[in-house]
Amino acid sequence: MIQTQPYSILAEIYDCIMKDVPYKKWAKYILKLIKKFNPKTTHILELACGTGTMISLLTKFGFKVDGVDISEKMIQKAKEKIKNEDVNLYIADMSEFKTHKKYGSVLCLYDSINYLTEIGKILNLFSNVWSLLDEDGIFIFDISTEYNSIQNAIAMNTKGKCGDYKFVRRSYFLRDERTHINEFEIEKDGEKFFEKHIQRIYKISEIEDAVKKTGLFEVVARYKNFTFSEGNEWSERVHFILKKVKV
Ligand SMILES: C[S@@+](CC[C@H](N)C(=O)[O-])C[C@H]1O[C@@H](n2cnc3c(N)ncnc32)[C@H](O)[C@@H]1O
Repeated sequence: MIQTQPYSILAEIYDCIMKDVPYKKWAKYILKLIKKFNPKTTHILELACGTGTMISLLTKFGFKVDGVDISEKMIQKAKEKIKNEDVNLYIADMSEFKTHKKYGSVLCLYDSINYLTEIGKILNLFSNVWSLLDEDGIFIFDISTEYNSIQNAIAMNTKGKCGDYKFVRRSYFLRDERTHINEFEIEKDGEKFFEKHIQRIYKISEIEDAVKKTGLFEVVARYKNFTFSEGNEWSERVHFILKKVKV
């Protein structure tokens, strides 16, 4: 079995494995959040954009959207999907990505923040995002909660076929370490690959303390799943909306 970097082989079958993710509903939800919290937004940056599904949907709403992802293979897939020449796609670590451009809204969706396994990286991310935003800019991101890991890890143990690829996914939560592991065994033409994905499961309070520590943002909302009700530790997913403050 060949051990590979996260998303290097998975990129080939990511869209197939995620075919039931409600991206259209999610995009409409993000649109509502942007309209509510920074309606002046014209330019969006999606951090950890993966294969670019959300970018495609948001450009249809008329936004100019750029994307960043650490995985070269995921960006390659995004480039194959998005033919729009106005969309810039960058390979970079989101906690260090720099550009001279400014955005009205920066996004980081679908547990991607959980891939930053140290709070120091989250602090770097916040200060980086602050410098990427316009004066009234907002940062929208979600976290996957401990409740989600406990409730749904078993349901995430799946196997299947995507074209010429076969895959097995094992998902488990190490409660004491607040770490969620997803292991993928992917087979093509008799060759087997293994990817281990490690995500830190933060408490809501840890995220809010980090925001306070930077002094760069105000938490203007914290919503449960795809709703406008307050998110808490019993939500599977919590969307945070941070507003840039002047420093
Ligand atoms: C669960 S996928 C989500 C992808 C996309 N947002 C979506 O909704 O389909 C997590 C993504 O985070 C990216 N990622 C993980 N750590 C990253 C980092 N430090 N900087 C940028 N991207 C990162 C991975 O390469 C992967 O594409």
